[in-house]
Amino acid sequence: MEREHFKSTFGVLVAMAGSAIGLGNLWRFPYMVGVYGGAAFIFVYIILVFLLCLPILFSEVIVGRRSHTNAFIAFERLAPGSAWKWTGILMVATPILVVSYYSVIGGWSLEYLFKACTFSFTQGATRDELGTIFNSFITSTWTPIIWHTVFLLLTAAVILGGVNKGIEKFGKVMMPLLFLTVIAIAVRSVTLPGAGEGLVYLFKPDFSKITPEVCAAALGQGFFSLSVGFGIMLTYGSYTRKEANIALNSTWTAVADLMFALIASCAIMPAVFAFGLNPQEGPGLVFETLPFLFANMPLGGFVAILFFLALLVAALTSSVSLFEVGVAWLVEEKHLSRKASTWIVFAVTWAIGVLCSLSFGRLSGISIFGNSIFNFLDKLSANWLMPLGALLIVIFTGWKMKKSDVIDEFTNGGTLRGNARLSGFIYFLIRWLAPVAILIIFLSNLL
Ligand code: PFF
Repeated sequence: MEREHFKSTFGVLVAMAGSAIGLGNLWRFPYMVGVYGGAAFIFVYIILVFLLCLPILFSEVIVGRRSHTNAFIAFERLAPGSAWKWTGILMVATPILVVSYYSVIGGWSLEYLFKACTFSFTQGATRDELGTIFNSFITSTWTPIIWHTVFLLLTAAVILGGVNKGIEKFGKVMMPLLFLTVIAIAVRSVTLPGAGEGLVYLFKPDFSKITPEVCAAALGQGFFSLSVGFGIMLTYGSYTRKEANIALNSTWTAVADLMFALIASCAIMPAVFAFGLNPQEGPGLVFETLPFLFANMPLGGFVAILFFLALLVAALTSSVSLFEVGVAWLVEEKHLSRKASTWIVFAVTWAIGVLCSLSFGRLSGISIFGNSIFNFLDKLSANWLMPLGALLIVIFTGWKMKKSDVIDEFTNGGTLRGNARLSGFIYFLIRWLAPVAILIIFLSNLL
């Protein structure tokens, strides 16, 4: 059977960027910057993105296009009968796990979009009041579960539209809109009186703050943000046409993803400093701090709507990509219909998500290795499964696949001259630097 392809190169780019750009950029990156010391974290992050995450992204897309199938069977197909097939299971199970808790935060952004639409942030509420509103929302039982359900239903609706119609059309309209919105908020934020201190915090690194822990956190964030180590980009790679330039698409994705993260930080941190708030707020940063900013700026009510709409759209395009891996597996491996597959993935992720959502309230007493259910899943994926998946992918590409095949994919059979010139260096990064560096950082998580 002929697999579906994205219609255009732009379509692939939009889908890859859509997967990469999400809550990871607008919610996770700014709070990680705050927790891990500002500019020093950003400095390490940028280096790791280009030296490690990008070669891993190349690897995933190469394996996907070469094997022409989804993450589950790709390894089996390229290395038949070997233990590599177990890698495939990791590549399908991990995205299902991630989309389960991702959709809980997606649900939070729906609730906040709803709050913004009813102009709840414009009534001059104090910082403490907004904090209380946030806490009572996430610890309650039903409302977050309802929003989590709505978010997953929206994701399923896009998935049912099919690869071309759903993901491509959705992404093409929404991503540029999202970009403009975040820029607009950043402009507002950096022009607030007292915002300069926030810019210094973001862009003047204090190198003494770079520790192994900061490097590990930055790498985990890089994987999460670029959607690598998961089989997501591998699946998109399998939808990529022969003529597409893998390196160019991947590099654009990384650059766009980085720009989003930086602009999101410029939208958030200067405001945090201008209002004398705490940058080390943690995961609540976007939801607790920004409403305060919106409540205290001209036209804040409208900016709030735009922002939470943007957050929702970014979250949706990413969750669609996570969801798609499981669906592609059920369709191609288990020969189920796309519709049935979608509802099966929906049911599983919904159930796990409900547990995650309840872990902020009713189930907060349950601890797994000292973490709540939600934190456990987040840590399990960012600190363990993603580095593991990424490590396996680069080892597979650098050591198991034939070098000539890898270079062939990277250069489209030698026709892409620019890529051909870089291919030796990239191959070195994939074969040597990436595995060694991931291993070191991975092991540092153990200590
Ligand atoms: N990259 C997405 C984000 O930054 O929000 C989240 C994500 C999507 C992570 C897909 C992992 C993934 F495979």
